[in-house]
Amino acid sequence: MNIGFIGSGHVGQALASLFAQAGHSIVLSNRHGVTNLQDVIARLGNSNIKAGTIEDAAAQEIVVLAFPFNTLSQVQPELLEGKLVIDATNYFPKRDGDLPKFIDHKIATSQYVANYFTGSRVVKAFNSFGVVDLPQLSALPAAKKIALPIAGAANDKTIVKNLIIAIGFVPYDAGELKDSFKIQADSNIFGFEGTRPELIAKLKG
Ligand SMILES: NC(=O)c1ccc[n+]([C@@H]2O[C@H](COP(=O)([O-])OP(=O)(O)OC[C@H]3O[C@@H](n4cnc5c(N)ncnc54)[C@H](OP(=O)(O)O)[C@@H]3O)[C@@H](O)[C@H]2O)c1
Repeated sequence: MNIGFIGSGHVGQALASLFAQAGHSIVLSNRHGVTNLQDVIARLGNSNIKAGTIEDAAAQEIVVLAFPFNTLSQVQPELLEGKLVIDATNYFPKRDGDLPKFIDHKIATSQYVANYFTGSRVVKAFNSFGVVDLPQLSALPAAKKIALPIAGAANDKTIVKNLIIAIGFVPYDAGELKDSFKIQADSNIFGFEGTRPELIAKLKG
């Protein structure tokens, strides 16, 4: 599949590498343009990964949001109309500002993102632990594979589940975006790296 990234830092680069190794075509983007990303492209060293503008990334079949939550309003929602969007962002009050609607769980952060990108199909994924661990964890044998929780509408999650399987993880379906508090950055599973049964036990605990 053709996958665009809006944001090409830790998350963008880690996921781009894994997706590219699985045979997908990647466009990385940031606010500073294609030239600025050339060193990153050279370092990643996979011909499936190219740099593009934010518009180029947004034009791909799937678009991953991989920027700090507090820059959301800088991305034009119209760019992503009709797209399958993977929300990998996390809200942290210290970094993103004290916003009671998130702190008090008036709305799940990814539901807020989905409301912002009206006309897009948003799936929450790849948020639950540090991406620095993804490469080594992706190579674990079948019985030890790590579960990655996702949330969103049933039809939209199927493609994301297949992406997760293709890069060596097990998807765990955590339901709809409106209920995704249980897998967001202030939940008890944040930072947890475990198999599917271990994740289920942690969610219950
Ligand atoms: N790091 C992790 O392990 C991890 C794990 C799961 C989830 N997350 C979440 O994923 C998101 C990204 O984290 P990160 O660690 O990858 O951050 P990062 O390393 O700081 O990278 C952020 C990237 O986003 C770009 N950017 C910022 N605002 C943008 C905008 N409005 N439009 C386009 N590009 C923009 C930045 O480049 P320019 O400044 O050049 O535009 C940079 O390429 C955050 O919400 C974070 O909480 C992080």
